[in-house]
Amino acid sequence: MSLDWINPARRLQELPLYVFARLDQLKAEARDRGVDLIDLGMGNPDGPTPQAVVEAAIAALHDPDNHRYPDFKGSIYFRRAIAEWYHRRYQVVLDPEAEILPVLGSKEGLTHLALAYIDPGDLILVPSPGYPAHFRGPLIAGGQIHELMLSAHNDWLIDLAAIPDRVAERAKILYFNYPNNPTTATAPRQFFEEIVAFARRWEILLVHDLCYAELAFDGYQPTSLLEIPGAKEIGVEFHTLSKTYNMAGWRVGFAVGNDRVVSNLRTLKTNLDYGMFSVVQTAAATALQLPDVYIHEVQERYRKRRDFLVKGLTDLGWKVKNPQATFYLWAECPPGISSTEFALLLLDRTGVVVTPGNGFGTGGEGYVRISLIAECDRLAQVLERFAQSNLFDTSTPLLSGK
Ligand SMILES: Cc1ncc(COP(=O)(O)O)c(C=O)c1O
Repeated sequence: MSLDWINPARRLQELPLYVFARLDQLKAEARDRGVDLIDLGMGNPDGPTPQAVVEAAIAALHDPDNHRYPDFKGSIYFRRAIAEWYHRRYQVVLDPEAEILPVLGSKEGLTHLALAYIDPGDLILVPSPGYPAHFRGPLIAGGQIHELMLSAHNDWLIDLAAIPDRVAERAKILYFNYPNNPTTATAPRQFFEEIVAFARRWEILLVHDLCYAELAFDGYQPTSLLEIPGAKEIGVEFHTLSKTYNMAGWRVGFAVGNDRVVSNLRTLKTNLDYGMFSVVQTAAATALQLPDVYIHEVQERYRKRRDFLVKGLTDLGWKVKNPQATFYLWAECPPGISSTEFALLLLDRTGVVVTPGNGFGTGGEGYVRISLIAECDRLAQVLERFAQSNLFDTSTPLLSGK
């Protein structure tokens, strides 16, 4: 039976297609045609999870206590490890009982925070371009999105002064993320001070996504929202182990900050899941306790790739920013071609997968995002393919039907 007489909920029907889901289809088609794809589309780290973390997980797997339902709040061992890590990195003191909640990857936490806080019609401020969960969570919850358009002219920082008072007055939540995906922008500490003052003035909940907390170069140290005095009263911050520790498949992150927000997110989640597999929590705690030398190695790996690809692309005539953080490049499309068309052109002519900027919102139009998730020898092939394909000559029509 087809069930075509029962429609899914409008909240699902009305969601635009997820950019990575669409890319997956196109990649599958290209592979079927025998193309040797070089996939720099997703922010999916290519290295293994550190050995010490894998070993801690294996040992934990042998303990039958870990086979039972975990605690909703997360294990105290993991929560303490998070508090210690926070204090070490940012000199911020967190109460493991009230201000910390493990989440099943920060995407899950960010999206469920929207369900915990947004009623239909609530006005939510979301930068564009931005990480999809920052606007998809509010859309699923029935929120009304007010896009904060980012631009190169303002170094991709949110222009707080451009937000009309009547919008700020109505707004309930502001999502933001620096170091930024997809633009790779970083924000000075002064910006964090300004956004905290703005949120306090207009009584807005600040949700900061510090996904790229450790992926920074050239001595730059990203700021945590919670370093700013008064931030804990109006904000929460999300972290992930996916990127720094190559643990994307483990699904582990955490929310920290305002105790009421943490508590309400936990209440929502007690209705949806049973917490995080204890083995994963033990592994994650081990990761947070790794010596700094591990972090330095990771940073060095991505820095080399960044230097290699930025130089290679620039030599080929691309306009690309040299990022101080994240593991992406944010590159301008040639004039007169949309980001989707350019990404399709790249896939078609070179077999290289990048993400079209408009998949991150209308503010990403005119750019593509390239993930530094391959070694330099593979990135050299990318440059070779680009060099041979005469990409900036877009007078040849794109293949149709793609
Ligand atoms: C800004 C940002 N937040 C969250 C995530 C998702 O992280 P997780 O794997 O913890 O769900 C990503 C992944 O690309 C991201 O770029």
